[in-house]
Amino acid sequence: MSIIQSDLLILGSGVAGLTVAIKSARALPNKQVFVVTKAHESESNTKYAQGGVAAVWDKLDSFNDHINDTMVAGDHENDLEVVKMVIEDAPEAMEQLIRWGAEFDINESGEIDLGKEGGHSAHRILHHKDITGFEIERTLLQQVESLPNITLLPYHFAIDLITEHHLKGKQRDISSCFGAYVLDQKTNQIDTFLSKTTILTTGGVGQVYAATTNPVIATGDGIAMAYRAKVAVKDMEFVQFHPTALYQPGVSPAFLISEAVRGFGAYLRNAKGERFMLEIDERAELAPRDIVSRAINSELIKTGDRFVYLDCTHLDAEKFINHFPNIYEKCKSIGIDVSTQYIPVVPAQHYMMGGVVIDKNGKTSLHNLYACGECSCSGLHGANRLASNSLLEALVYGNRIAEDIITNMPQEAEKIMLAIPEWDEEGTTVPKEKVLISHNRKTVQNIMTDLVAIVRSDERLEKALDHLLYLYTDTEKVYAKSKLSPQLCELRNLIAVAYLIVKFSLKRKENKGAFYSLDNL
Ligand code: SIN
Repeated sequence: MSIIQSDLLILGSGVAGLTVAIKSARALPNKQVFVVTKAHESESNTKYAQGGVAAVWDKLDSFNDHINDTMVAGDHENDLEVVKMVIEDAPEAMEQLIRWGAEFDINESGEIDLGKEGGHSAHRILHHKDITGFEIERTLLQQVESLPNITLLPYHFAIDLITEHHLKGKQRDISSCFGAYVLDQKTNQIDTFLSKTTILTTGGVGQVYAATTNPVIATGDGIAMAYRAKVAVKDMEFVQFHPTALYQPGVSPAFLISEAVRGFGAYLRNAKGERFMLEIDERAELAPRDIVSRAINSELIKTGDRFVYLDCTHLDAEKFINHFPNIYEKCKSIGIDVSTQYIPVVPAQHYMMGGVVIDKNGKTSLHNLYACGECSCSGLHGANRLASNSLLEALVYGNRIAEDIITNMPQEAEKIMLAIPEWDEEGTTVPKEKVLISHNRKTVQNIMTDLVAIVRSDERLEKALDHLLYLYTDTEKVYAKSKLSPQLCELRNLIAVAYLIVKFSLKRKENKGAFYSLDNL
């Protein structure tokens, strides 16, 4: 077991974590920045983001319109000050990304091509084909490589934050984050990473549901660690379901058919071929996601069908292929020619609006702990995130956190850090069977999918809570006697996140944005 000391410890390697790392490492060349990430360094929700990044770029667009769209999508649960701040910072954040090497699509006039998505009143999505997240991740990893004071550690699983609860005697009065215990998946040792500042950028929670567009690593680790460390968490009832995941039963993660496809003119149709969104909302297919997902859900309940269709057959095929090569190829690979056939689609969990509460500088309720990106809750998204505002939030807050750290790097924590105990695994053994863990993971996903999805009710939530409490007790027993594995830690985190979603849902007595309960009608 090793003890590693650093100035910045970043947990996660998506757009949020890498932005903090690059910006801080450039400004503080003598400081050591560690980026610890549980899978390959490029694996994160960022990599799978298709649509793009929303920013006011066109001269005819305005900050006010982007602010208004964000508030409307968020059902006015957003923090207006935060919304203004992020949206006004957006163009500079995009320019920085371009300076760092990111390429965005250019239109026939030689300008950046701006896409449109649901809930947006203007074309303002900067994109790279339909693989914008992949392009951003590529750019950021390239930058990281050029900075010698960043150490990037893939296959390192953060287990828990180190806080005063791990200290002895009088030191327990010093409320702060001192780093994290991290499982090195190559050595199977749990190392102690001590750091003056720790930044949670661990992404989303999608794996808490059976159908999600999030990759298998999206298990809410940061939110669960923060919750265990008694850090403030909020808005966990607001779970976003993307309306159009490709219908492929049993395939996880679900392949996303980007909202930009509807922005490009695609229609939603039911099995009879009717454009049902026309009756639901004047924005039809381009209404905010919560409205479209609920409309599809109710269409499926009404008809008993398993999916609805996305119709692209009236669109210019050449332009479609040029804009969405990845989606075109994916559909082709399963025998769907989008120029002549409809795409079967269904809503799938996509984004968590809630998370670890942060202020405008990304600070959490715990001293020396920051959070950024999907694991955080800044107030930008309110009750429902506007399309393409998530990469934007991570970029803007990534900059703000780095700036805060650059000016306020703490000096004093070093002595206390030396007194922090190493991870104690006495009395634990490698579990003989892993089936208990995989079974419980599937059980959490089924509970959440059946009882805590797009439309909720108190009765279902109470039932879910009972099941989750049983799973919690069962899993804690295994945890207490087992040598830790990523699978077991992920299961614990999924149970914690599922519990938070249910508990927050039970408390909400008014339907807002993505939260909808039959008992609040
Ligand atoms: C999409 O391309 O539809 C997803 C983009 C987002 O979630 O903002």
